[in-house]
Amino acid sequence: MSIPKTKTAYLETYGCQMNEYDSELVKTILTKAGYEFVLSPNTADVVMLNTCSVRDNANRKVYNRVHTLRQSRTTEAPFKVGILGCMATNIRKDLLEDRSLKIDFIAGPDSYKKLPDLISTGFESGEKTFNLTLSEFETYSDVYPTREGGVNAWIAIMRGCNNYCTFCVVPHTRGRERSREPESVVDEVKRLVDEGFTQVTLLGQNVNSYHANDTDFAGLLEKVSDVPGIKRIRYTSPHPKDFPRHLLQLMADRDNICNQIHMPLQAGNNRVLEMMNRTYTKEEFYDLVAEARETIPNLKMTTDIIVGFPTETDAEFEETFEVMERVEFDSAYIFKYSERKNTLAARKFPDDVPEAMKTERIVRLNDLQKIVSLKRNQAQIGEVQDILIESLSTKRDTNMATGRNAGNVLVLVPNEGRRVGEYTNATITEATPNVLRGIVS
Ligand code: SAH
Ligand code: SF4
Ligand code: F3S
Repeated sequence: MSIPKTKTAYLETYGCQMNEYDSELVKTILTKAGYEFVLSPNTADVVMLNTCSVRDNANRKVYNRVHTLRQSRTTEAPFKVGILGCMATNIRKDLLEDRSLKIDFIAGPDSYKKLPDLISTGFESGEKTFNLTLSEFETYSDVYPTREGGVNAWIAIMRGCNNYCTFCVVPHTRGRERSREPESVVDEVKRLVDEGFTQVTLLGQNVNSYHANDTDFAGLLEKVSDVPGIKRIRYTSPHPKDFPRHLLQLMADRDNICNQIHMPLQAGNNRVLEMMNRTYTKEEFYDLVAEARETIPNLKMTTDIIVGFPTETDAEFEETFEVMERVEFDSAYIFKYSERKNTLAARKFPDDVPEAMKTERIVRLNDLQKIVSLKRNQAQIGEVQDILIESLSTKRDTNMATGRNAGNVLVLVPNEGRRVGEYTNATITEATPNVLRGIVS
């Protein structure tokens, strides 16, 4: 097949914020190479899925999508299909060898600059092309992402992960940890402000181990906080094992660093935490939460939990329940353990907690968290909060605008007179586990 004259591309993104950010990089790289991005696969010459491999259901979603795409591929619209992201590096062999999938090109998270070449070589040869090399250096500092809409700008400050939590595929899919130079992060933030953004979220798999040019994560946060015009800075995710005191103090001292921390607990039992290679204990986690709450007034805290890690007993699960009950997170993402190829857990620990038990545990934690989230949200009723407006209607109600308070909780306010991107004061009047309602005051 020859290279089409006007090359159009379509991209779907799965997985975490890092993948969202990477898709913005891919858009820039391919736009520079002459591609025009379109909103439907049927009008595209090239269809790409930026994929996630963190749990099995993420993988399955992509397989299903590839099959549907193949069915919609016709002789009039014979688009090429490419797999990008974490599935590409994680199950490279399956993707390369499975002919039934009919994938045309594959690129891992560090290969996006090669995409224009990979695609055009494939068009010329008709052969499958791929690049899955992981780099120790690539940070894409020289690629300015194509951000579309929204009031928040993601910025990856580092890539990869060296932690090797035993359940986690990310170090295998994204390679070694590397930090981007602070100057390049600050320059990007300045440019974002010029474009009208007032909120940034700094991204990394473990932001606390950020280190470049003698700047640690707190140092970088301070530099970003000094950029005139930045009103809200968030970051995700820190690791509880190395949370420095001076970072908490900086958050307390700076008005434009949001009083919100995503603090992934994963499990509340020390034996399980050790098997997970999380390198902190339940007691250390309690101490950190206490210190954070003491230092930062009105702190909102969220977490990630895995239930049914290999060999987790009922009593050990109860400890996770107890920690969640005691800590009272504002919200929690709770997952069933999913065995991932290439991880240490997959090699050493049989996935022996029965599915029904995993379900029982996840239901119990979700029920508990609902009650806790409701309590935490109800405690905000009567407060006057600064809301950054994100959208002027909800799916269910065309009269309500949505926004977020500094703690990152969703707040609905009447949309009359509101504008996307503005900050408005609202008095909170109602609460559910997931959202607050307010009136503009
Ligand atoms: N780097 C981030 C998160 C990475 S993945 C961090 O450390 O916080 C996001 C979440 O997915 C993890 O916190 C974990 O709770 C969950 N997760 C990762 N691997 C998983 C697996 N194999 N099974 C179930 N949940 C998993
Ligand atoms: Fe995965 Fe652990 Fe790294 Fe997070 S810190 S990406 S959970 S290995
Ligand atoms: Fe993110 Fe999924 Fe990769 S969570 S880092 S896209 S495996």
